[in-house]
Amino acid sequence: MSSVVIVGSQWGDEGKGKMVDYYAGLADAVVRYQGGSNAGHTLVIDGKKIVMHLIPAGILREKPLCILADNVVIEPNTLLSEIGMLKDAGCNISPSRFKISARAHVTMPYHIMVDHLREIKRARAKIGTTGRGIGPTYEDKAARRGIRVGDLLHPEVLKERLEIILDDRNYYIKNYLEETPFAFDKLFDEALKFGEQLAPYIDDTSLLLWNMCRENKNILFEGAQGIMLDLNGGTYPYVTSSNTTPAAAAVSAGVSPAFLKNIVGVAKAYTTRVGEGPMPTELNCEVGDLLRFQGGEYGATTGRPRRCGWLDMVALRYAIRYAGITSLILTKIDILSGFPEIKVAVAYEINGKRYDEFPYDISVLYEAKPIYEILPGWKEDIKGASSLDELPENARNYVNWIVERAGIPLVMLSVGAQRGESIEAYNPFKA
Ligand code: GDP
Ligand code: IMO
Ligand code: MG
Repeated sequence: MSSVVIVGSQWGDEGKGKMVDYYAGLADAVVRYQGGSNAGHTLVIDGKKIVMHLIPAGILREKPLCILADNVVIEPNTLLSEIGMLKDAGCNISPSRFKISARAHVTMPYHIMVDHLREIKRARAKIGTTGRGIGPTYEDKAARRGIRVGDLLHPEVLKERLEIILDDRNYYIKNYLEETPFAFDKLFDEALKFGEQLAPYIDDTSLLLWNMCRENKNILFEGAQGIMLDLNGGTYPYVTSSNTTPAAAAVSAGVSPAFLKNIVGVAKAYTTRVGEGPMPTELNCEVGDLLRFQGGEYGATTGRPRRCGWLDMVALRYAIRYAGITSLILTKIDILSGFPEIKVAVAYEINGKRYDEFPYDISVLYEAKPIYEILPGWKEDIKGASSLDELPENARNYVNWIVERAGIPLVMLSVGAQRGESIEAYNPFKA
């Protein structure tokens, strides 16, 4: 029995999708455990780009059972179009390959509306959300006025719950957001139809996973977003509305935390962030533009240009500590080819004082000026490299420099977007 949790170690978009696709080839199940269609996980297989928002990236491998666990929030239209896209691509997405937890919550049309209108109303204080209704869905879950996927299968239960919930939400929509309230009948009919379409996939996924654990299966957990966007540990309030930490995988899947052993953090060789909030190493200059251009740094979900900057080792060390990350995957190292020198933030200067540790207070963080260490760059294209020895010396030194300061071993180096462009140091399922 073995488990691997893949988590983003920065502000999301570290290349988790590519890595989940890689390890899914070794897994019996792949479990997405938080977030919703705010995620955009990109895979490039045989030159074809596929972006997954909800269904685990493991679905493109033949074997693993793919699961959306309890703490995922599911927008049915997005899910159904993803199922359709996969079917069109010839992928087997039968109910024997894909399961949705009956305990997962449904993102309703009013959640998406509230997300949009709040961002407009907040204007200067907006979060820069993906507009997928994520915050309002988790908010309703915590307020115990959510609709669960399992409710979609029970018309009487759904009717009673939706009547009460809509009364509450429509009051807010009409009186605070000054928008037209939702009509019950349309929402109810749509929800029932979604229930009918999704019924074959809905199950008690915690029981399925418990049985798989007892049968010594390999389980891969797919995190979305990143540790710096975690509801507790991230740069609050500029975070997402779920816990992105690996501990959340056990809570969501309904398996013992003791089962989670190999916590693999994915980090880009530089930093990106989408949306608002502090980002100490952000480069508002041609170097940042070059990182964005070379790295294709545009949101996989919203298409927004990602904010780009040098690697922030203060934030990465914090993420490793906070989340309990036990090994590291470095991605997009190939994007740095051609930069004459590469900077890495090793500490911050804030109001004349040196900070070696990541501050919890964002008003302090907004004042942070990175203290950089400068490493020499390399010119060679490294996309085709198949071992660490094949890398130019300066590239190898950069990787070793990061790994040493991270204090955890390197599992994998990703040197290109394509499925095969990876250098494996060891197999985390066997660690
Ligand atoms: P995720 O949300 O963490 O799965 O990451 P995204 O898919 O949003 O963004 C990562 C982007 O980088 C995608 O376009 C990937 O295809 C691409 N990518 C992943 N790893 C590498 C790599 O090592 N090199 C290059 N050049 N691109 C990569
Ligand atoms: P993946 O899984 C990068 C960011 C949004 C915004 C904040 C809150 O592809 O790494 P939300 O819609 O969740 O309420 O937005 O979180 N965000 C992401 N940034 N990658 C993601 O997912 C993200 N999901 C949410 O830009 O700043
Ligand atoms: Mg992404």
